[in-house]
Amino acid sequence: MFSPRAIGIAHTPYTQTKEIPKGLGAKHDAEGVFEILPEFEAGLTDIEGFSHLFVLWVFDRSEGFELFGTVPIDGQPHGVFSTRSPRRPNPIGLTVVELLRREAGRLHVRGVDMLDGTPILDLKPYLSSIPPEKLRRGWIAEAETRAKK
Ligand SMILES: C[S@@+](CC[C@H](N)C(=O)[O-])C[C@H]1O[C@@H](n2cnc3c(N)ncnc32)[C@H](O)[C@@H]1O
Repeated sequence: MFSPRAIGIAHTPYTQTKEIPKGLGAKHDAEGVFEILPEFEAGLTDIEGFSHLFVLWVFDRSEGFELFGTVPIDGQPHGVFSTRSPRRPNPIGLTVVELLRREAGRLHVRGVDMLDGTPILDLKPYLSSIPPEKLRRGWIAEAETRAKK
């Protein structure tokens, strides 16, 4: 194992969790800036060529975890590993953002869903080779069907 360390910080419009869109069909199109620490800036070389990035980050303002519980988009309980709940054994968030532009160590992105000041652990290019028809969306698809009725 290793001790994670932040490579940077997310600047986002959200100071409170209630401001972040939630629920079925929630759209995340808010813009933000990922400020990467100077000692890691060389690691951004060539990142401009990618339209989208995975960002791994820390739920630094969530406490404890719940292995089985409800989430805002559904009244039914689910196992934490079948949800994107912030209350998980390792409080790590994963978001796909659109990279708008880079200014040295500052990445301007769209699609943030984390609070302002959130520590960033890692960035990777978003690449997916899974065709949409092969994806199963589990209980979320069932919740969407219930919501349409
Ligand atoms: C449902 S999680 C999904 C996050 C990410 N897309 C994922 O799948 O890991 C997003 C929610 O986490 C909460 N959140 C965002 N930033 C946080 C932070 N720094 N600490 C604790 N909770 C946070 C907010 O309630 C937000 O609506």
